[in-house]
Amino acid sequence: MTIERPAARPANPRFSSGPCAKPPTFELNKLAGAALGRSHRAAVGKDKLKAAIEGTRELLGIPADYRIGIVPASDTGAVEMALWSLLGERNVEMLAWESFGAGWVTDVVKQLKIDAEVKTADYGQIVDLASIDFNNDVVFTWNGTTSGVRVPNGDWIADDRAGLTICDATSAAFAMDLPWDKLDVTTFSWQKVLGGEAAHGMLILSPRAVERLESYTPAWPLPKIFRLTKGGKLIEGIFQGATINTPSMLAVEDYLFALDWARSVGGLQGLIARADANAQAIFEFCDQIDWIDNLAEDPATRSNTSVCLKFTDPRIRDGASFAKAVAKRLEAENVALDIGAYRDAPAGLRIWCGGTVETSDIQAMLPWLKWAFEAEIAAQAEAA
Ligand SMILES: Cc1ncc(COP(=O)(O)O)c(C=O)c1O
Repeated sequence: MTIERPAARPANPRFSSGPCAKPPTFELNKLAGAALGRSHRAAVGKDKLKAAIEGTRELLGIPADYRIGIVPASDTGAVEMALWSLLGERNVEMLAWESFGAGWVTDVVKQLKIDAEVKTADYGQIVDLASIDFNNDVVFTWNGTTSGVRVPNGDWIADDRAGLTICDATSAAFAMDLPWDKLDVTTFSWQKVLGGEAAHGMLILSPRAVERLESYTPAWPLPKIFRLTKGGKLIEGIFQGATINTPSMLAVEDYLFALDWARSVGGLQGLIARADANAQAIFEFCDQIDWIDNLAEDPATRSNTSVCLKFTDPRIRDGASFAKAVAKRLEAENVALDIGAYRDAPAGLRIWCGGTVETSDIQAMLPWLKWAFEAEIAAQAEAA
């Protein structure tokens, strides 16, 4: 049996979940205005860093009294700074439903040695959000990038909480509505939804998080790149563009470009609509065929960015090698790059649907997924 190849290919086959596709209008020469070879402390550099901060505030609708800082080491750096600077003052609840959340659990329990209450769910599921005690500090991931499971909204977070909420929103920011009044610490990295460059993270603090920083000193030492206070006071400069150490001005320029592009597609609501349309195209594809399913079990928790899929065909003998072979075929045809499931996640595919991806490219790729599936089923039968 010959399996017919689809006629059209996606214009852009980049569906990686990080670094994610650049904005469709991106060209390297559009970064020519970068303050290269200049000090980030000079007015030109500092103005760009400030513009990155204030552009983030404007696009994400972050309240004026929240601090926004550009910090080292991408989203990981921002989360680590928060965990190491804030935790230990009261009990901690750690929520995890995939590998990044699990990584934060390891940090808190094994490295900081905090006797935290750990709530985990298997890949595809989410923890019982009604069970959380907000007298505790609560650490969670808004969208689990490696399972494609997200919290449906922020309604489960208590308004009158005594503890802080610390939210890793790296694959959610710019694709999902984040209720700022429910979030005390929020982090993300430039390399995700806006298709920026890695290396820099964003740390967003509510007034209550700042209050904690100024009133509590952890028992453990903090390296310079984690230190947010001096003499018991917040280092305000960090949140005005005076970064802790030297940033890449090329990455800053690239982020400013991405923010401009985000404005051009209607800002946050435009970005959310783009991600929703991308994810919806995949959901509908899955609904129409019986050999693939969303890894997220509850539709309310399905990600609109990192859409994770599992093959369900009973003819598949070895799920992991089958999924890898399908991804390899798609890569070899240059129709979908980097869509294998994350190394710690169940076998399957993960297709990035954030706003920099064009829906027409998702739609052009899906017939190829069907082609690769059928080709691999045939190859498996031949090998038997
Ligand atoms: C939920 C989540 N947290 C943290 C990270 C780490 O991000 P970075 O490599 O930008 O530090 C990622 C990266 O994919 C992620 O998806």
